[in-house]
Amino acid sequence: MSRILVAIRSNPERWADLFRNELPDHEIVTAVPEDGRPTPVAVVGVPPPGLLARLVDLRLVLSINAGVEHLLASGEVPADVPIVRMVDPGLVDGMVEWVAARVLAWHRNLSAYAIAQAEGRWEPRPEKLARERTAAVLGAGALGGPVARMLAGFGFRTRAWSRSPRGIEGVTGFAGRDALAQAVDGADILVNLLPSTAETVDIIDAGLLALMAPGGLVVNGGRGAAIVEADLLAALDSGQLDAAALDVFRGEPLSPGHPFWTHPRVWVTPHVAAITHPHTSVAIMADSLRRFEAGEPVDHVVDRAQGY
Ligand code: NDP
Ligand code: OXD
Repeated sequence: MSRILVAIRSNPERWADLFRNELPDHEIVTAVPEDGRPTPVAVVGVPPPGLLARLVDLRLVLSINAGVEHLLASGEVPADVPIVRMVDPGLVDGMVEWVAARVLAWHRNLSAYAIAQAEGRWEPRPEKLARERTAAVLGAGALGGPVARMLAGFGFRTRAWSRSPRGIEGVTGFAGRDALAQAVDGADILVNLLPSTAETVDIIDAGLLALMAPGGLVVNGGRGAAIVEADLLAALDSGQLDAAALDVFRGEPLSPGHPFWTHPRVWVTPHVAAITHPHTSVAIMADSLRRFEAGEPVDHVVDRAQGY
């Protein structure tokens, strides 16, 4: 009987029970075994440092997160051990909803009207139709693709930027670093759904923000490291940007006293844009495991060279 360590910080026993139901022929544990026998499979979110390195004969890591930069940076997963990142329709729906909520709240001035109501001001603002605005989505993968489709569905002139060309119906695609400026040029809305890699860190800087149409919105559901925070704040203060909706940060939780907490046009959510739901994701991970054990190809294995 092969053993699986479920090392998830929040409610590990619930996850373990779901795995026991799904994989009754496996031993499921929630603490690193000390008996010296192999534990070939680990299910992890953000494991404590040193945990993975203590597992005997680790063969497969199943991540409950879509972003795995912390696992790669830890150096605790040997290069020949595949890491399978989370791709789950529940995660996709969550991200589509969160981006829709943030974009529409800005586009239809809902956030501004909430402030006006609190101050008792009846002040209609100029309204635009979606088709009069351009949205650029950085990252056109499992999350960025459906988000771009959703924005196009509302009528926004939508662009998507990725490393390799992706054909998304109703969306203008751009691929490769040389096409980044063209993808962002004149955009009113910039949505980041890139993974955090050496190539995407600091990608949203003063230069990129200056390419956007004045008075736009930045939405970050990808990773905090994509944004140069000082450049974002400067663009907000100069009026080049109207607002920023941020779900992810360089340091999480966002530190007390960070300027994002109190900036009137920065909308903070605590890394909840898309949550991995146990009831949908356990079946997906169990399927990956069965394929791995049968020697069949496994989907969504992280490409170590690309970092995602
Ligand atoms: P995918 O791997 O499916 O998609 C990543 C996309 O980014 C791909 O289109 C890829 O290009 C593109 N990309 C990567 N590197 C580059 C580059 N250097 N230049 C241009 N494009 C690049 O990931 P997901 O869509 O599943 O997730 C994206 C990220 O969202 C995760 O890594 C995670 O950080 C974040 N996330 C945040 C959550 C939250 O709650 N806030 C929840 C879940 C995920 P190509 O198509 O060519 O491969
Ligand atoms: C993530 C996730 O990668 O929650 O942020 O899946």
